[in-house]
Amino acid sequence: MEGRIQGAADALFRSRFAIVLTGAGMSTESGVPDFRGPSGIWTRDPEAEQKAYRSYDRFKKNPKEYWVERLTGPSLLGDLAGVSPNPGHLALAELEAAGILKWVITQNIDNLHQRAGSKRVIDYHGNAFKLRCASCSARYEPTDFDFQEMLKKGTLPPLCRKCGGVIKSDIVHFNESIPSDVSALSLEAAVASDVMLICGTSAVVYPFANLPRIAKRHRRESSLPFTVIEINAEPTPLTEQNISDYLIQGKTGEVLPRLAAELKKKSI
Ligand code: APR
Ligand code: ZN
Repeated sequence: MEGRIQGAADALFRSRFAIVLTGAGMSTESGVPDFRGPSGIWTRDPEAEQKAYRSYDRFKKNPKEYWVERLTGPSLLGDLAGVSPNPGHLALAELEAAGILKWVITQNIDNLHQRAGSKRVIDYHGNAFKLRCASCSARYEPTDFDFQEMLKKGTLPPLCRKCGGVIKSDIVHFNESIPSDVSALSLEAAVASDVMLICGTSAVVYPFANLPRIAKRHRRESSLPFTVIEINAEPTPLTEQNISDYLIQGKTGEVLPRLAAELKKKSI
């Protein structure tokens, strides 16, 4: 483990455009459950996963009911406003502030990277604290609408002030397309990166899991340097298929602060 952390620190220190891709494993040490880990939500409750696969259809069929459920029903990940960033999130924000990390591309909807101080964050699967027009992708804050009033008066769903389309949560549901601005920016960052850290993801959900593959192919075809380092509790298809150069098997909340400390030593 020590040698691999050193190796990762060297690669990041020499990098010109390092980015990090993250998943639910980043936030388990903050008390937010993951999905497919040993105590993940889908692992424990496969029914819940089947229900999640129907969310987008439910929104399209009956947006009013979708909103009533969002405003009155239980939240799958619990109270995201009540959890805090952990040392893993803070270490990534530190690496950005030091000019080493250029982007965080996250599958997490929990806003914890931003709360840790990361500025350049792409919410690839959306953000639970934001809203988006299902037609024109205009973004809104929850405070832009009086939901309790709309619930009482039965005037849900909220409508877009630009195009009149229906507003939904910014969260990208299964079977829903990644907003084009988000996928374009993520792809641009991925193929521009010379070092890609991949933290706390099982790397089985697409199109996100394609980013390291597309970047690797592009950089190889262009004879450009590219190093992929996974930090995860267990191996993933990226490890097995040698998309990543190596895996640091451990907890992101423990490994990332050590990595940041190694880099700090180098910069002194
Ligand atoms: N440190 C390192 N790895 C961890 C930690 C931790 N503290 N906790 C869990 N892990 C690992 C798990 O072992 C697992 O391999 O993180 C991975 C999390 O994988 P998933 O639960 O599949 O989460 P993710 O890859 O983000 O899922 C992708 O699927 O359900 C959808 O939209 C949802 O964005 C999500 C997407
Ligand atoms: Zn709109």
